[in-house]
Amino acid sequence: MKSSKSVRDYIRTIADFPHEGILFRDVTTLFADPRGFRMAIDQMLHPYVGERIDKVVGLEARGLILGGAIAHQLGIGFVPIRKKGKLPGTTISQDYKLEYGEAIVEIHDDAILPGENVLVVDDLLATGGTAEAGIKLLERLGANIVGCAFIVDLPELGGRKLLEKLGMDVHALCE
Ligand code: PRP
Ligand code: ADE
Repeated sequence: MKSSKSVRDYIRTIADFPHEGILFRDVTTLFADPRGFRMAIDQMLHPYVGERIDKVVGLEARGLILGGAIAHQLGIGFVPIRKKGKLPGTTISQDYKLEYGEAIVEIHDDAILPGENVLVVDDLLATGGTAEAGIKLLERLGANIVGCAFIVDLPELGGRKLLEKLGMDVHALCE
């Protein structure tokens, strides 16, 4: 019999990780399932079919996994945005606030050419702080951001509103 499971059905919730009070939406169970993973990649791409995209940009950590698969599917290059101190070349940095803490992200300063069309991907949109920091880095490099694609949006944390205020096209597969 054909399964009618949706992307949401493959995601598990773990209470009190990484801190008490956080309901952590864990996509590793989605990634581990061949049907679920393929469905997620196909659905993240769907809104951008027919658009010119030069590079996929993935936000550490789970955006690197998604971004690699999406770039492979599109036959284009992949660029990582990583936490401070991980990229070996010359970087530019941006600090930001998280739902539970603070961090700094970086991108190689030669990773994107001015005017290139990029798609930003990550597993989850919460406050939008991580994506906003990534967008700031990309804008400093002169990228044209075609859209921001996520698996999960937590609307009560305001990330979508923040990114839309920045002029971004935001897509998420579930809330
Ligand atoms: C999670 C998630 C997003 C970010 C979303 O990553 O993968 O990148 O939080 O939250 P925000 O919209 O409030 O910024 P996390 O910071 O847990 O880091 P990790 O991916 O390295 O585990
Ligand atoms: N990043 C920020 N908030 C999160 C949550 N609730 N689940 C998974 N990743 C997150």
